[in-house]
Amino acid sequence: MCGIVGAIAHRPVSPILLEGLRRLEYRGYDSAGLAVLDPDGKIGRLRTLGKVAQLSTAHDERPLAGTLGIAHTRWATHGEPSTQNAHPHMARQRCALVHNGIIENHEPLRREQMAAGHVFSSQTDTEVVVHAIHDALAAGHELAEAVRHTIARLDGAYALGVIDTHYPDRLVAARQGSPLVIGVGFQEYFIASDVFALLPVTNRFIFLEEGDVAELRRDRLSIWNAQGERVERPLRESSVAADSAERGQYRHFMQKEIFEQPRAVADTLEGRLSNEGVLPEAFGVDAERIFAAAQAVTIVACGTSFHAGLVARYWIEALVGLPCNVEVASEYRYRQHVVPKDSLFVTLSQSGETADTLAALRIAKESGYATTLAICNVPESSLVRESDLVLLTRAGPEIGVASTKAFTTQLVALLLLTLTLARLHRTSIGDQADAARQTALLRSLPAQLERVLALDDEVAALAEQFVEKHHCLFLGRGEAYPIAMEGALKLKEISYIHAEAYPAGELKHGPLALIDEDMPVVVVAPNNALLEKLKSNLEEVRARGGQLYVFADDQVPFQADPGVTIIRVPETDDLIDPLVFTIPLQLLAYHVAVLKGTDVDQPRNLAKSVTVE
Ligand code: M6R
Repeated sequence: MCGIVGAIAHRPVSPILLEGLRRLEYRGYDSAGLAVLDPDGKIGRLRTLGKVAQLSTAHDERPLAGTLGIAHTRWATHGEPSTQNAHPHMARQRCALVHNGIIENHEPLRREQMAAGHVFSSQTDTEVVVHAIHDALAAGHELAEAVRHTIARLDGAYALGVIDTHYPDRLVAARQGSPLVIGVGFQEYFIASDVFALLPVTNRFIFLEEGDVAELRRDRLSIWNAQGERVERPLRESSVAADSAERGQYRHFMQKEIFEQPRAVADTLEGRLSNEGVLPEAFGVDAERIFAAAQAVTIVACGTSFHAGLVARYWIEALVGLPCNVEVASEYRYRQHVVPKDSLFVTLSQSGETADTLAALRIAKESGYATTLAICNVPESSLVRESDLVLLTRAGPEIGVASTKAFTTQLVALLLLTLTLARLHRTSIGDQADAARQTALLRSLPAQLERVLALDDEVAALAEQFVEKHHCLFLGRGEAYPIAMEGALKLKEISYIHAEAYPAGELKHGPLALIDEDMPVVVVAPNNALLEKLKSNLEEVRARGGQLYVFADDQVPFQADPGVTIIRVPETDDLIDPLVFTIPLQLLAYHVAVLKGTDVDQPRNLAKSVTVE
C-alpha cells in the first residue's frame, strides 16, 4: 500500500505532487511527505504525521520550489506512523527515495550498512534502499545503474522513485511486485501508484512491468527490463475523466459509491447481454471453448471480493453442477493444494493489485490450471495483465476503503459467468426459455437497486439503535450467509463495532451463548426455500432476549414485535437476492459510522489497495 508520486517538468512540481498524493490517499494515510530538488541543487524535504491535508498546510507555510520531485503517502508496515518514518527517506543529503512495498531482507542489509558507517534515522524497511543507492552512486554508478545495482540485492516488493542532487535532469523509477505507472506529458514525465493520481496532468500512460527500471528526463524516457535490456512499453490512453474520483454532492465517497450502484451494475451488463442470454464473446474469443471443457472452478480472493466468491459457489454448484472451491488468497498461496482436472481458476479483485491474490494467480498458473480468469475493476492492473481471460467490472473508481459498488458489480460478473457455464454445460437453467427470463431479470437489476436505495432514510433511523453497541451478529442461510458476512465486514471496518456473521443454523453450536439484550442480531431473510429453517433459528434468538433486526422480503410473513424490527426489502427473484440484500447492509454500516463520527472513507489502520502481504 502507500502511494507514490513523482514529477520531472518545466513547471513547479509541488502542486502536482500534493494533488497526486490527495488522490492516492486511499492507499494509506498515516503520514505523508515530499522532496523537491530546489534551484540551488539541494533537496528540500517536508514530512508530516497524519493526512495529506496536514502536509499541504505545512507546505503553505514552507513551500518547496523546484521542477523535480517525489512524494509519498504512507500505510505503516515497519515502524510506527511518525514523521521520522514518513517518506521520502534520504541518504547524506544527496539522494531521496519513496517506496511502496516491503523489503523482506532489510535486517541483514541494515546490519551491513550500519557496520559500514551509515546512520539510520527511521525504523522502516525502506531506509536500507536509499543507503544502498547512495553507496552505488558513491562507487561511480549513474543514477539508473545505481538503482539497478541496488534492486538486484533486494528481496520483496517495491515500487521506487529516486532523485539525486548530482543528476538534476532525471527521476529514476523501478517496480517489482508493487504497481507503478508513468504519465507522459509534453516535455514532462510523471510516476504514480495509479493513473488517478495523474489524471489532472495527463491521460497518457505507460505501465511498467515486473523488474523494469525507468529513467525519466524532461525530453526522453528510457526503460530497461529485469534482464537490463532496453525495452519499449506500450503507451495507452486512459478514458477515465479527471473528476471521476471526486465526491460531488455526497458527504463521503462511500455514500456516493453506494448510490452509484444502479449505474455501475448497468455499465457492467452493457454489451454483454442479448435477448437470448449472455453474449458468447463476453469473456473473450476463446472463452466458450474453455468454459465448455471446464470440470471444476476454483475462486480465490480477499476481503469483500472473497465474499462475492462465496456467493458464486452457491450459484455455480446449484445452477451449473460443477464443483466450486472458494478460498482466501492468503491461505491458498501457502498451502499444498490439489488442482482438479480441467479446472478454471478465477480471481476476484477490485484493485487487481492485491498482493495475496496476485501471488495466488501466479502459483495457479504454475500448478496446472487449464485457464485463469480475472474479474477485476481496474483494466490496467497486474491481475488483468497476467490472466488468460478477463471480465472487467465497470464500477468506475472506488475510493472509499469500504468496498461497495465493486462488490455488487463482481456479483453481476459472477452471474454472467454462472449463466454462461450453465448454457455451455446444458443444465436446465441454461436452456433458451430460461435464458430470456434471466436476461430480463438482469436488465431489471438497476431499477431494483434504485428501489432498495429508497430505504436510505429508514435505515438511517435504524442506525441510531446500533451506535452504542459494542458487538453485533449477522445471520443468513444459503446465499444470504456470505451477504451477512459482507454486512458484518462493512460494519466492523468503518464503525469499529465488533461484528461477526454466522450461518443461522450454526447458532446453536456456540454463538447462541452470546445472545442477550445488548446483542443486536441482524438477519438477512429473503423469501426462499430456507425461510422456514431461518424462522426457527430466529425463535432461538428471541427466546433468549436477543434484539432482532430482520431485513426481509416484502412477502415474508414476519411480524414486528417488541425485540423484533422488520425492514421490508422490495420483493425480487432468488437469483438476484444477494445483490438486493447487500444494499441495506451497506447503508446500515454507513449510517452507524456517520453517527459514530468515524472516518468513513479512510477508517483507521486500513488502506484501500493492499499491495503488501
Ligand atoms: O482490491 P481487492 O478487491 O483485491 O481488495 C480485497 C480486500 O482488500 C477488500 O475487499 C477489503 O476487504 C475492503 N476494505 C472491504 O471493504
